Amino acid sequence: MSILRINGGRALNGEVRIQGAKNSVLPIMAASILAEGVSIIHNCPRLADVDVSARILEHLGCKVSRDGESVCIDSSGMIRSDIPDALMREMRSSVVFLGAILARTGEARLSLPGGCELGPRPIDLHIAALRELGAEIDDNGGKIVCKAKRLKGCRLHLAKPSVGATENAMLAACRSSGTTVITNPAKEPEIWDLQAYLIKLGVSISGAGSSIITVESMPTKNHVEHTVISDRIVAATYLSAVASAGGSIRLTDVNPEHLSTAIDVLNEMGCEIEADREKGIITARKEKRLKAVKPVITSPYPGFPTDTQPPVMAACLKAQGTTVFVENIFENRYRHVEELKRLGAEIKTEGKTAIICGVDRLHGAELQSTDLRGGAALCVAALGAEGISEISGLHHIDRGYDKIENALQALGADIRRTSGA
Ligand code: EPZ
Repeated sequence: MSILRINGGRALNGEVRIQGAKNSVLPIMAASILAEGVSIIHNCPRLADVDVSARILEHLGCKVSRDGESVCIDSSGMIRSDIPDALMREMRSSVVFLGAILARTGEARLSLPGGCELGPRPIDLHIAALRELGAEIDDNGGKIVCKAKRLKGCRLHLAKPSVGATENAMLAACRSSGTTVITNPAKEPEIWDLQAYLIKLGVSISGAGSSIITVESMPTKNHVEHTVISDRIVAATYLSAVASAGGSIRLTDVNPEHLSTAIDVLNEMGCEIEADREKGIITARKEKRLKAVKPVITSPYPGFPTDTQPPVMAACLKAQGTTVFVENIFENRYRHVEELKRLGAEIKTEGKTAIICGVDRLHGAELQSTDLRGGAALCVAALGAEGISEISGLHHIDRGYDKIENALQALGADIRRTSGA
């Protein structure tokens, strides 16, 4: 079992290009089956979750090939409408295939999705949206069987701005007759990127990023190319790393607007972060001790993203004062806290709230990743801890970070992936 060995307590200094967005490329790969043709997706990161999506597409009968940062999907040969349980269990975003398979074939059979264990992750909003569009869905005992002779456009209100449910509704609406209006959709940049891809497929769709998304027609193209936006959560993770370890770094190929709330919090803590939207560059420097800031409260985009809560928490473990986090999106997203305490952090959690009392120093420790962003948070904290830390459970981190050790080495970190023997 491989581990990451980090020799922390040293300032960072370097530059890294930010990878394509995991949470953008996954729904776009699912959407590629809506058109019976070829989609070439550029800026596609090398991630375990991308590999799982490719295996799902191949199981369905599509051809998938990769050439460097580009993935080519030919969905013309699609013959199946089921996803094996083992593949469903690998990641949460497997559920977004539901709307696309149903839209393409008129039926879909899959089981409940897997993914990070962040508390209950129901799919009731996905099911409700597809039923509104005319699907007959039997979802008992973890198996989901959907049938829809034809989907009919309608007004769809999402009780919560769920990212996945918004994506499923958009994809199913693309092959529905008539117009679909989705109210209270998620507004994340990845929703906008999915819309941009669907427009290239010839779908008449608008409103992503606003409170109303309207879908008016079906795909008409069968050969598209699309470049995925950069990963705002990965960018926020590496900014958290320099906040934790100190030094000066530069991120390229990034859209600062997509992580403005994380930048604001880190700036307020005492990092000096400058962003150039035109050039797609963020520079960050941290020299003096950080200071605690007002409570960090997670909320749907454009609020403070739940995915940046773990790395930003890791960045403030040595900040002067007490920092409070309130996690409003997931019920159990503090699983990294017990691991951070092994480094000497002082953290108390109570329900949605975590209270971090800044300490003067952290020391290296053996750490176990609990989930994707929790694992990244351990890397961030270990970089600011004096001495050697060893982090296991890398399969969590590899789901969302394209060779995290290479990126952190480019930023000047003393980090290696070893066999752990
Ligand atoms: C997406 O998950 C992201 N994953 C998550 O990123 C991200 O944390 C989350 O959106 C919130 O931004 C992908 O895009 C692959 P939700 P998703 O549906 O779609 C509740 C990462 O680290 N809910 O917006 O599963 C749900 O329980 C991952 O990259 C229902 O109640 O999130 C949660 O409390 C982690 N019923 C809230 O809504 C439903 O049917 C937000 O969930 C669906 C969701």
